[in-house]
Amino acid sequence: MYLNLNIFLLFIGLSHVLGVFMTDKIEKHSVGKMFQSLGAEQKQPDSKKEELLEEVKPEDLTKKEFKEEASQQARKFDNVILGKSAQQLGEISVPQMQSKQRAIERVSTGVESFDELIEGGFEKGSVVLLVGAPGTGKTIFALQFMHYGIVAKKEPGIYITFEEDRESLYKHALVFGWDFQALEQKNLFRVLEYRPHQVEKLMKEGGGPIKDAINEIGAKRLVVDSITSYALLFHDEYVKRQSILEFFDLLHKWETTTIVISETPADVHLTKADSLGFLSDAIIALYYKKEGGKSTRVHCCEILKMRGTKHTNKVLAMGFEETGLKVYPDVEIF
Ligand SMILES: Nc1ncnc2c1ncn2[C@@H]1O[C@H](COP(=O)(O)OP(=O)(O)OP(=O)(O)O)[C@@H](O)[C@H]1O
Ligand SMILES: [Mg+2]
Repeated sequence: MYLNLNIFLLFIGLSHVLGVFMTDKIEKHSVGKMFQSLGAEQKQPDSKKEELLEEVKPEDLTKKEFKEEASQQARKFDNVILGKSAQQLGEISVPQMQSKQRAIERVSTGVESFDELIEGGFEKGSVVLLVGAPGTGKTIFALQFMHYGIVAKKEPGIYITFEEDRESLYKHALVFGWDFQALEQKNLFRVLEYRPHQVEKLMKEGGGPIKDAINEIGAKRLVVDSITSYALLFHDEYVKRQSILEFFDLLHKWETTTIVISETPADVHLTKADSLGFLSDAIIALYYKKEGGKSTRVHCCEILKMRGTKHTNKVLAMGFEETGLKVYPDVEIF
């Protein structure tokens, strides 16, 4: 009985010693890993600290001097190791975050005076929802984005239309001097027309023909005119939502900078809260406004959302000039 009790106490004692040893090991291991993942010193900090302290030779020093030297070395350790890790952690410091924001690659819209109000253009690879009532200038805006991209930035583009046919688009674009037919002949531009019966097949193929066209001409810009017409092709509400989700998923995968045109719900601001708004990286609303009592309407645009961008919060007057759309930030609309 007495022997059993002794064996039991010995066992408890050994477990405790082993426990302390293991905890110490685990702590050292995880701290070491943390530094390693920060790209700091490869050595574990505790061993580095010991190494620095080893430089102090106690036999050469008085007790007081030794203490001072040791604390100096400890400070050196903090500066070397912790300072370095803080530097690594600096990746998330405010100034660097700002420079990261600035590092977002921008794509010029081509709409005169507009880019400087959105930090230089749309975010490269983003999906921009362009909403507006009929006749507010959505197609012209998108064609301008496309034409400017091809001619000024050497960025080929693809225009997917569920609405206007090719001839109509070309004719209306020519009014502003944009010759898309010539660009198509040079293989820098393509119009893909889709009729209702073709869309189901297109989705079943995972948008294959669009992806092929993107690869063939090296398209960097894409326009979908319009998602409203596309959605109308689905009668079942669930299938419609599912198809829109799948379509946006493809748009993001294709990595082009994309404008998706959408006809407005009665209140444009509702777009922000509906699923299209959430799926898009940016929302631009176009209006053709008339203030009560006034006898003229004004074309204007507003940015309702633009991820990662410090954008203007003004409703901007928009003019249809000889060579395309232009915004007038200094014009007070009403
Ligand atoms: N040369 C021009 N000069 C002035 N305004 C023009 C000119 N061309 C087009 N517009 C304006 O743009 C409107 C048509 O633009 P657009 O076809 O881009 O509209 P939309 O929003 O795409 O319309 P929908 O929803 O019907 O397709 C016209 O109703 C007119 O107000
Ligand atoms: Mg249109």
